Amino acid sequence: MSVSNTVFPENPKWPEEGTSRVPFWAYTREDLYKKELDRLFYNDHWCYVGLDAEIPHAGDFKRTVIGERSVLMVREKDGSIHVVENVCAHRGMAFCRERHGNRDSLTCPYHQWNYSLSGDLQGVPFRRGVKQDGKVNGGMPADFKPSDHNLTKLKVATRGGVVFASFDHDVEPLEDFLGPVILGYFDRLFDGRKLKILGYNRQRIPGNWKLMQENIKDPYHPGLLHTWFVTFGLWRADNKSQLLMDTHHRHAAMVSTRGAAGKAADVTQVSSFKANMELNDPRFLDIVQEPWWGGPTAVMMTVFPSVIFQQQVNSVSTRHIQPDGHGAFDFVWTHFGFEDDSEEMTQRRLQQANLFGPAGFVSADDGEVIEWSQEAFETKPSHRALVELGGREVGDTDHMVTETLIRGMYEYWRKVMEAT
Ligand code: FES
Ligand SMILES: [Fe+2]
Repeated sequence: MSVSNTVFPENPKWPEEGTSRVPFWAYTREDLYKKELDRLFYNDHWCYVGLDAEIPHAGDFKRTVIGERSVLMVREKDGSIHVVENVCAHRGMAFCRERHGNRDSLTCPYHQWNYSLSGDLQGVPFRRGVKQDGKVNGGMPADFKPSDHNLTKLKVATRGGVVFASFDHDVEPLEDFLGPVILGYFDRLFDGRKLKILGYNRQRIPGNWKLMQENIKDPYHPGLLHTWFVTFGLWRADNKSQLLMDTHHRHAAMVSTRGAAGKAADVTQVSSFKANMELNDPRFLDIVQEPWWGGPTAVMMTVFPSVIFQQQVNSVSTRHIQPDGHGAFDFVWTHFGFEDDSEEMTQRRLQQANLFGPAGFVSADDGEVIEWSQEAFETKPSHRALVELGGREVGDTDHMVTETLIRGMYEYWRKVMEAT
């Protein structure tokens, strides 16, 4: 029997061409996925948890995840933000079920263990036993120390109103993790203005989580898949643009300026490239230039592994990647604006959020192509994807006709995942 046609290899090796090929098994192997959780989500990296505007008052909390682990982002009475794991220190249940709420303290319903907002164990029912007929029954051992049984506390970093956390207390500072180039674009969006939460979308995508990072590192597809973009002049492959990475090539920024090329010369002008197509509701494309843009009309930032920061004209949002097994993830969008926005600007941001979001004309396409990619990967993990547009190298570019950011991400992925 020939084994050269093995479709399900047992110990597959990365193709010799390097990251201009990505083997399908990188998206299908459950053991590899568990290793990704360990090495990318639970160690050495900062992961996104939310915006501090989501928990404005003392006692406010938001439940979310890092990788697959449930965590709570909590506002303490002194205003500080804590992130604790949603796993009771007693017998381990994920005690918090609400997505958002307000509490004086955190209590597990099973045996009522009670924790402070920063995760310190402060109450254990029957700790000293129960008196009955003049004697004390049960209770915790005499050497039981509550401080040994706090909730798992994560390291927290906030910048510009964005909250990151890490299970790894030795993780490098957030600013170093992002690197100066990505940090510059991060600070452009989160420049210290108070954020205003406009709403959420949740999108379940049956594909490997890395496909979402790839999707936002892929300037090849928008003008081809999202025909809507092109029709209404929001995207052209010859837009003035830059693709930039951190030195590890794990994070990236796709920076583009609409109207710097071709027909859509005026950024506030709705230009249809198909003369007979018109929007029934032109408010979708009521775009108003904002001073903080400083040039670019769209900056899509991928911060590896957990989050995408989006500015598409007036629509700004975070998109949180929440993996669930090797073949699915939840994609959670938080649409926001700024506290000094006029009511008109808030409405405009919401309109555009609907346009770009999962119920609109753009991200629904991305969800579907990711699903169909995963579908094929599962059938023949021995095969590979081709990532050669723009060459086989990795580097910043001043054009969009390249898949270099995807090659860069897998360079980093391999470094971390193949380390012994
Ligand atoms: S499992 Fe939480 S109190 Fe027992
Ligand atoms: Fe897309």
